[in-house]
Amino acid sequence: MTQLHFPPDFLWGAATSSYQIEGAAAEDGRGASIWDEFCKRQGAIADGSNGDVACDHYHRYEEDLDILSRLGAGAYRFSVAWPRVLPGGAGAVNRAGLEFYDRLVDACLARRLEPWLTLYHWDLPQSLEKDLGGWRSRKTADAFANYAEVVVRRLGDRVRSWCTFNELPCIADFGYQDGIHAPGACEPEGVVRQVIHNLLVAHGMSVQAIRAAAPGEVRIGLVHNPWLPEPLTDSAPDVEAAKLEFYRRNAWMLDPVFCGKYPTDELQALGTDAPTVLSGDMQLIAQPLDWFGLNIYNCHQVIRTGSPPLDYEPDYPRTAMDWPITPDALYWASRFMNEVFSPPAIYITENGCAVNADPGPDGAVIDLARIAYLRQHLSGLSRAVSENYPVKGWFAWSLLDNFEWQFGYTKRFGLVHVDYATQRRTPKLSAAWLAECIRLNQMG
Ligand code: GCO
Repeated sequence: MTQLHFPPDFLWGAATSSYQIEGAAAEDGRGASIWDEFCKRQGAIADGSNGDVACDHYHRYEEDLDILSRLGAGAYRFSVAWPRVLPGGAGAVNRAGLEFYDRLVDACLARRLEPWLTLYHWDLPQSLEKDLGGWRSRKTADAFANYAEVVVRRLGDRVRSWCTFNELPCIADFGYQDGIHAPGACEPEGVVRQVIHNLLVAHGMSVQAIRAAAPGEVRIGLVHNPWLPEPLTDSAPDVEAAKLEFYRRNAWMLDPVFCGKYPTDELQALGTDAPTVLSGDMQLIAQPLDWFGLNIYNCHQVIRTGSPPLDYEPDYPRTAMDWPITPDALYWASRFMNEVFSPPAIYITENGCAVNADPGPDGAVIDLARIAYLRQHLSGLSRAVSENYPVKGWFAWSLLDNFEWQFGYTKRFGLVHVDYATQRRTPKLSAAWLAECIRLNQMG
């Protein structure tokens, strides 16, 4: 098999998020988040669980970082829990909360893991939802910019890579339209569009706040989960058609970020559902970025010229999430992102799959299905790199099995198995496989 090399400075890492792993929900002055509240709703979470304890990363982060460092990774992508830092969303800063991230960042640096900090991975302070209406209100954007400033003042001397938001589509669509994520709202179109606009404004304001307050050099990005089509064949017409569809389906959120405008046709079609845009908003949203992150799990449809988009049929191979396994996803995502929106650098900030392998009699966790998934996807990524698309790094989702939102603890995405009763960590076979891939900096 051909050897698929990655460039010498290619960044390998793993990602997590605060609510999914930290636990310690009532410790050291942490305020409630919308997820604490949402989990109390009857039927909201498949196994009736919540993030109160999760992986207890709050107390076990040193052990977790040791495992990551033994994989040979160069970076750890984590998120800060806004309600730990500002329990009421705004106002008084909770010192003990900030100190946790202080220790976490130092623990990363001590292991030569570059900290990649995400400010918002979905755990909005509950008081902002209750008092302001959460992201329905522009005041939440002001509060977010203030929170960003507080965090960057404390950690900006050691953290270089900053991400404002993780996955705007999930925040708006799952949280405020479908009601399957916190805060569990089912709002009409006009409200959802305003939520998106407020999030985009919050992104722009926080980029400015980070740049203004950072004591040293920072690299700021946004992490997006694009709607991703793949062409049926590599023929130019199929690829062009898929690229056009990629643009069409992502333009609402990415045209503002990269071009400072909403796509005209879609805006007109919205009529009275169009968001209220204040003068200066679009320039504010379009702050220059240093990198752009893509969270990629699978392609969503297949595009063939001259026919409607094709869905993956029920018998198509799928992961434990029931998501189709589409080996070329990282290739098409990198290529389309580069050709359509041209960010200065692309990082795959999440990629992985749920495989529900448990420890065998000898304690080992054999997850060959995850290895097969990673092998295929990293091969696609190495093709993108070899064709000179500017992909600079890849983060596994996830370091640990964790709280998978509305699925609770029923889906295991980790390279490391977590026994939730004992909090025992067991690196899976895929972790050993990935360590070898990182060591050789190549696939195959
Ligand atoms: C996401 C979230 C993660 C999920 C993962 C698997 O990016 O959707 O960042 O929190 O756990 O994607 O669904």
